[in-house]
Amino acid sequence: MSFSAPPPAPENPADRRTFVRTTLDLGDVLLQPWGREAAERDTMLEGLIAAAADPLIALWNPLATADRGDALAWLESRDGGWDRGAGASFAALTATDGALLGSVTLRWVDRADGLAMIGYWTLPAARGRGVATRATRAVTSWAFRTADARRIEIAHAVDNEASCHVARRCGYRPEGTLRDSHLFGDRAYHDEHLHARLATDPEPADPTGEPTAYGNPATGRASGTSR
Ligand SMILES: CC(C)(COP(=O)(O)OP(=O)(O)OC[C@H]1O[C@@H](n2cnc3c(N)ncnc32)[C@H](O)[C@@H]1OP(=O)(O)O)[C@@H](O)C(=O)NCCC(=O)NCCS
Repeated sequence: MSFSAPPPAPENPADRRTFVRTTLDLGDVLLQPWGREAAERDTMLEGLIAAAADPLIALWNPLATADRGDALAWLESRDGGWDRGAGASFAALTATDGALLGSVTLRWVDRADGLAMIGYWTLPAARGRGVATRATRAVTSWAFRTADARRIEIAHAVDNEASCHVARRCGYRPEGTLRDSHLFGDRAYHDEHLHARLATDPEPADPTGEPTAYGNPATGRASGTSR
């Protein structure tokens, strides 16, 4: 009698390309998965409601979090993205007191192909301090390292110069202009700049001199704790 091992199951790229809930520690800023836990903190719900009311966010990145009920539904949907491994949405928080600074969200456009898209916003009081840049860099590195992302895209309205700066600072090279490609908060279609970073692109130079990969070697704190 002879025994033969069953043939290995064919690899499903979706298994490798699953976003796993992770807190990224940038030292003074924590990137925490959005979800039900945030719903337990009134300050987080208030922050989401304030974000939706901000004119720049309402124009370039409208948020369906106008009131408490909407904010709770939005958090449920972020949790759903994490549960399916299809979306990775992080709140950027001050490490000392957990104050909400902003948000970075990554989602698969074509999971089998390793193509994802990233977006971000910061609350007005947090702007101009490099929060969006640092958070987007960290999430980008994490996606390449842990979720086998092959290519990540950013698209922003051509008039949104701050977003263009963030994209370039994060190593997302400009690839061209998409004409009338997206309906923004002013109910008008705008041209967008497309930027993208490949997993094989070099890590961008870091103007702050801080570690560019996720995690903070200086504090030695765990940076990839899965829930
Ligand atoms: C775009 C946004 C996320 C930037 O957040 P932030 O935390 O201020 O970003 P950072 O501090 O990391 O970097 C801001 C960059 O934009 C530049 N910038 C800021 N305001 C600007 C403006 N009005 N015009 C041109 N550049 C501007 C800053 O100089 C900086 O670039 P630099 O590092 O090359 O000097 C924030 O303005 C925002 O939330 N806007 C509304 C929502 C939005 O546009 N989301 C992106 C949709 S694609």
